[in-house]
Amino acid sequence: MVFAAVLAGGVGSRMGANTPKQYLRIGGRTILSISVSKFLREPEITHVVVLTPGDWVDYTRDLLAEEFGKTDRLTVLEGGETRNDTLENAIGYLDRTFSFDENTILVTHDAVRPFLTRRILRENIEAASRYGACGTAIPATDTILKTGDGKFIKDIPDRTGLWQMQTPQSFNARKLESLMASLSAEEREVLTDGCRIFTMKGEPVYLVRGEQFNIKITYPFDLKVGEAIVAAHLDRE
Ligand code: CTP
Repeated sequence: MVFAAVLAGGVGSRMGANTPKQYLRIGGRTILSISVSKFLREPEITHVVVLTPGDWVDYTRDLLAEEFGKTDRLTVLEGGETRNDTLENAIGYLDRTFSFDENTILVTHDAVRPFLTRRILRENIEAASRYGACGTAIPATDTILKTGDGKFIKDIPDRTGLWQMQTPQSFNARKLESLMASLSAEEREVLTDGCRIFTMKGEPVYLVRGEQFNIKITYPFDLKVGEAIVAAHLDRE
């Protein structure tokens, strides 16, 4: 079985809007609806769980029911304080409800990355089945620097071999669950995503090629870029 967790538990403080950014619209639809539609259209996905801030659960149920009609492939739940807590809520709910077996795959995705494609999703499912874990990424085009204080440059790593992470990140669900349960309090503080957990524990994580247009909506400027992506039908596939 393949499950999807759409992480929408954040408040979008950098966007500075009146509502969490996942409820803002691009091309007339909420960012969250666009993201959820990408999972519901994939027949291999058994169930999609969407996790939102506590105050937004009812609103989201109504929004998604209006958009997708009555479906038993979709559940809306409350997320957690941090992205990791939200992910843990998703895993807990899915395992309790559907009982993971050793082949169960969990695709995790940031709700605010609405432009993922069929290819990215299918390659995630295949890579997670084959290797146990995968992350979506693209080679860095800008030179990335390291700073400590935000005032001076500490180091400029060679760009060759530096990639930018995107989502989805997909995992063997049981393996992710057991690695998360094994984290110390300090590790939990720094590990904000499943791929980092696997890498820290010395587990292989396969790379799925993302797309430059698979952007994360973070700042108001990104909404303008998002409108252009929709207008150009870049995320059609
Ligand atoms: N997220 C989540 N639960 C949290 C925090 C974040 O599910 N407690 C989700 C967000 O909703 C988003 C994704 O993780 O889909 C990536 O996080 P980010 O872009 O940082 O979103 P926000 O935390 O909402 O934004 P900001 O940091 O600007 O407040």
